[in-house]
Amino acid sequence: MERDLLKILISTEDIQKKVKELGETISRDYQGQNLLVVGILKGSVIFMGDLIRAIKIPVQIDFMEVSSYGRSTESSGAVRILKDLESNIEGKNILIVEDIIDTGLTLSYLLDMLKARKPGSIRICTLLNKPSRRKASLKVDYDGYDIPDEFVVGYGLDYGELYRNLPFVGVLKPEIYARCGEDTTPSK
Ligand code: PRP
Ligand code: MN
Ligand code: MG
Repeated sequence: MERDLLKILISTEDIQKKVKELGETISRDYQGQNLLVVGILKGSVIFMGDLIRAIKIPVQIDFMEVSSYGRSTESSGAVRILKDLESNIEGKNILIVEDIIDTGLTLSYLLDMLKARKPGSIRICTLLNKPSRRKASLKVDYDGYDIPDEFVVGYGLDYGELYRNLPFVGVLKPEIYARCGEDTTPSK
């Protein structure tokens, strides 16, 4: 698994430090308020698990699965809702948790959909952000790292559903994704 990597981009220790900081900021910002943390499956699952343990106020959690890529490395722009929330979010403070924001198409679609359900507030937290790739404008409230346009995997991020369990964020060797026919353009 690790030998498929060109390099480690963000180490386990750096991620842990960043997650702790984000958790402290979020705890401060939502002190005394209700908070529903919504993880976007599957990529957010590792970050979500660490982040909610770094948040020191009571929270509720829920998940959505919104997939647009499948095995492809390039955005199709088509967003599919695979799993919806179980909770009613009307009047609640919502924090959406993502592993990475790339074109922003997934989240802008999701935001429109969730705003129609009249939450009290809605904010976005992502571990990784690729502002240079943005196609839909988005306000990212809690941003772990702005990263260059390299093909990253690990800490929840996959390529072809693999590598999610790497405990750090790494850059995949081009020959790994070049093997997959039409999927030759790295996007995230
Ligand atoms: C990835 C990532 C974000 C989205 C970001 O998910 O986890 O949800 O793409 O891309 P965008 O900003 O260009 O829309 P993916 O669809 O690969 O599903 P996964 O989380 O199950 O891997
Ligand atoms: Mn995702
Ligand atoms: Mg993916």
